[in-house]
Amino acid sequence: MKLSQRVRQVKPSATLAINAKAKALRSQGVRVISFGVGEPDFDTPHHIGQMAVQAVLRRQTRYTPVQGIAELKAAVVRTIEADYGLRYESDEVLVSCGGKHCLYNLFQAVLDPGDEVIIPSPYWVSYPDMVRLAEAEPVFVPCAESRGFKLTPQDLQQAITARTRMLILNSPSNPTGTHYQPEELRALADVLLAQDQVIIVSDDIYYRILFDDVPWANIAMVEPRLKARTFVVNGVSKTYAMTGWRIGYLLGDREVIRAAGKIQSQSTSNPSSVAQWAAVAALAGDQTACRHMVRVFAQRRDYVMDRLRRIPGITCPVPHGAFYVFPNVSAYYGRSVDGRLIQGSADMADYLMEEVHLAVVPGDAFGEDRCIRLSFALSMEELREGFDRLERALQKLTPKAP
Ligand SMILES: Cc1ncc(COP(=O)(O)O)c(C=O)c1O
Repeated sequence: MKLSQRVRQVKPSATLAINAKAKALRSQGVRVISFGVGEPDFDTPHHIGQMAVQAVLRRQTRYTPVQGIAELKAAVVRTIEADYGLRYESDEVLVSCGGKHCLYNLFQAVLDPGDEVIIPSPYWVSYPDMVRLAEAEPVFVPCAESRGFKLTPQDLQQAITARTRMLILNSPSNPTGTHYQPEELRALADVLLAQDQVIIVSDDIYYRILFDDVPWANIAMVEPRLKARTFVVNGVSKTYAMTGWRIGYLLGDREVIRAAGKIQSQSTSNPSSVAQWAAVAALAGDQTACRHMVRVFAQRRDYVMDRLRRIPGITCPVPHGAFYVFPNVSAYYGRSVDGRLIQGSADMADYLMEEVHLAVVPGDAFGEDRCIRLSFALSMEELREGFDRLERALQKLTPKAP
């Protein structure tokens, strides 16, 4: 069957490919440790599930307004005001089926063929494909490991052309876990103030998963003059271990929000009514479980960094947020075992899977082939076992004969 040009441009997800390999091995009885997961390993807090059950029993099971139920939009506005210090009206909020769907609706609403979208690299895998689905062009700006893989104002300035329509910022970041300091955002804002054709997407989906009491801000918080052209993407998936419920929200200019809602109205209509009620409980209810989760992630981050520091040749910026590390393993490229040569991150991921049954995501999926992404949304026991396997596999690789 002939497929559309559009879909032929889209790359299959690297994470899904890794998970499929892990699944195939597991079905043969192999114990695979997966560092590939992109979601909290915790259960959705009980009171959130209870709210969903009540919604069903109260028959809140019909179509809702396309942009989301008023109660959830009000909870979003309150949360954002409390956490960001920024005030939005309810018609500046669109509730969609996850943060991903927010991004998709937004891109479809504002991007045209030929528009350029600046994506600091390494980046979350879905950005480029979603940009291409909107017929715009991703423009990748490589960001140095020595700067925590963050965009500098000089590199931003250089990447901007007359066709630049959008910049995507993601802090804390998937895949690196690093986040922008307020002063770093300030410097980027100074460049953007002079470029009023550029809108900014602030993907803040990990903003509550932060360690070491580091300050967090987004660009509209440090420069309120940019608020009118900043679009905040956020949601309950990561903060409340609700990845399967599919609730995200987009905040920004009401005309664009209305347009993104129009796209949504012709695809999914509203997100699930039951999940929206559950999200009200998440945002407005008890935050204890969420704080606990962050503390546990912080302990695991410490453990993971400690193990990484002990492996010769590996470098890795310390993540202060999210639940990923993005170590540079390129010192092992060019090495081989039993005639098998490791030439890049995809070879490394294949080797780790086959040799020690360890699933990792190759960095080339995120635009940085020198690295691999390891998630620490796993139990301590699995992390320990996973790092033992990683060490074992790397020790076997012998340097090329000079
Ligand atoms: C950076 C980033 N943005 C957005 C999302 C989308 O999250 P959701 O599950 O709410 O669609 C993810 C999920 O992996 C992510 O890592």
